[in-house]
Amino acid sequence: MTPPTSTANSPETQQAVADLPCQTCDSGQVLSAKGLCCRDFRSTLGNFATGITVITALSPEGEPIGVTISSFNSVSLDPPLILWSLSLNSPNIEAFSSASHYAVNVLAADQQHISDGFASRKSDRFAGLSFSRGLSDVPLLDGCCAWFECTNEAHYPGGDHLIFVGHVERFAQGEAESPLIFHNACYRKLNVTE
Ligand SMILES: Cc1cc2nc3c(=O)[nH]c(=O)nc-3n(C[C@H](O)[C@H](O)[C@H](O)COP(=O)(O)O)c2cc1C
Repeated sequence: MTPPTSTANSPETQQAVADLPCQTCDSGQVLSAKGLCCRDFRSTLGNFATGITVITALSPEGEPIGVTISSFNSVSLDPPLILWSLSLNSPNIEAFSSASHYAVNVLAADQQHISDGFASRKSDRFAGLSFSRGLSDVPLLDGCCAWFECTNEAHYPGGDHLIFVGHVERFAQGEAESPLIFHNACYRKLNVTE
């Protein structure tokens, strides 16, 4: 199928619609994407299926912190680099920016409740969860498919998010083989037939 053609991104159109409220949905958000409906943009992005991670670290006070993140991806094999992005609105943005280390916990198919917990407003997101301590005492959640322990190498501005690049210092695979998947705003599991 051919992708739909659009004049939405012509320079004239961009100028005309810049900074106007989105006309095609009622989110009330300012149109920074110039001609793109913010709701349609988000739902179209949802077609890209991802795994789900919880990124964990220690706050400046030494308390465990964690957020559910699907924007994780690999960047480089040599040196070993990964990336993820965090909303600038996150109350944890300063803590993650200043942490020396963080860990990427790749969630397994039976860990949907953990994804929900670390995306919620719960005051203690670690309550009832078992975890060990990795490099620099960063929490490593039990039962995951994989873990990547990183030094906090670099940050880059990414619009309303901050992009984190991590240098992988240590990694491991868990016994859980089947990952939790996120697709079109729904949790999914792989239907593996071999
Ligand atoms: C499946 C899933 C994936 C998410 N991925 C991201 C992400 O990549 N970046 C982000 O900033 N928030 C993401 N979120 C939203 C955060 O988990 C949520 O806003 C959480 O409250 C952030 O933690 P905070 O309370 O410290 O801001 C995701 C939520 C879910 C359920």
